[in-house]
Amino acid sequence: MLPKKIEAALNAQIQTEAMSSQIYLAMASWAETQGLSGTAAFLYGHSDEERMHALKLVKFVNERGGHAVVPALPAPPRTWKGITHIFQELFVHETKVTGEINKVVDLCLKEKEYTTHNFMQWYVSEQIEEEALARTLIDKLNMIGGDKGGLYLFDRDLAGMIGAKAKEKQGA
Ligand code: FEO
Repeated sequence: MLPKKIEAALNAQIQTEAMSSQIYLAMASWAETQGLSGTAAFLYGHSDEERMHALKLVKFVNERGGHAVVPALPAPPRTWKGITHIFQELFVHETKVTGEINKVVDLCLKEKEYTTHNFMQWYVSEQIEEEALARTLIDKLNMIGGDKGGLYLFDRDLAGMIGAKAKEKQGA
């Protein structure tokens, strides 16, 4: 049985992951309206991944005899200043998520909840990957600066990246 404190922490994490999915969906939609189809495809995919992160937690909480609660979510922002702004925000958001995950891991150790601790390691690894990816994309954007041709290629390459990431996850 899942201790109540751990159940509450995991429910809070469900909200964090669901909120991430909402934010990236809003980013994707905005990017699409700006003709940034590669960026939009990448962010739609990223939003789906975050929903999967939330779902994985929902299933775990219920499997362990808890009750995963589907949370209310505040409205995400509607517009951004451009691609660089999007990825800066995404990076900041992911570092916050990492902080939240670390808190859950800390609590598991404190409460000697080793099963949940083990389960959370998947999220710890995922955060390393996501932060590294966001950092790489920001570095590229900084290199490109305001160059329109460079931004065009960046947007085009992003569409391919989501496919590559999905394949990697499937072990292909
Ligand atoms: Fe599921 Fe990007 O944190």
